[in-house]
Amino acid sequence: MRRRAAAALAVTGALVLAGCDGPGGSGSGGTADLSVGSAYMPQPVSDMAAGFLTITNEGDAADRLTSVSSDVAGRVTVHETVDGAMQEADGLDIPAHGSLVLESGGSHLMFEQLKRKPRQGQKVPVELAFAHSAPVTVEIPVKAATYTPKAGRTTGSETGHETGH
Ligand code: CU
Repeated sequence: MRRRAAAALAVTGALVLAGCDGPGGSGSGGTADLSVGSAYMPQPVSDMAAGFLTITNEGDAADRLTSVSSDVAGRVTVHETVDGAMQEADGLDIPAHGSLVLESGGSHLMFEQLKRKPRQGQKVPVELAFAHSAPVTVEIPVKAATYTPKAGRTTGSETGHETGH
């Protein structure tokens, strides 16, 4: 039953997207060139999990992250944080020659109705769907519940820090 409801939602989403013609309706003929990096999931402490990653677009056209799915969760949503409160977003824009950053305290993925609890050291397969580009599958590594990336620090010694078992 749940499966059927999800399918109906997906159809609705597609209709809405078709109506809005994408970001900026870029008719330039350029294409987006997406790559995904810096992905991690803090080990969940409840029946929901968050996911963070960066999508870099080296192409000439903007794209949009429209939906996310994973076999560990009944539902994956995209959240953005507005004035300190998170709310579900229809999708998130990825500017041409730019990036979409999902990070702690900002936009993030929300894995709901977890079918199993991801544990530190495991990888969670996630499929990202876009308005224009082909879907991308990434394996998101599960980190400690308290893990936060050392933003802006690129010293080599940081990597040796991460050898927790
Ligand atoms: Cu959230």
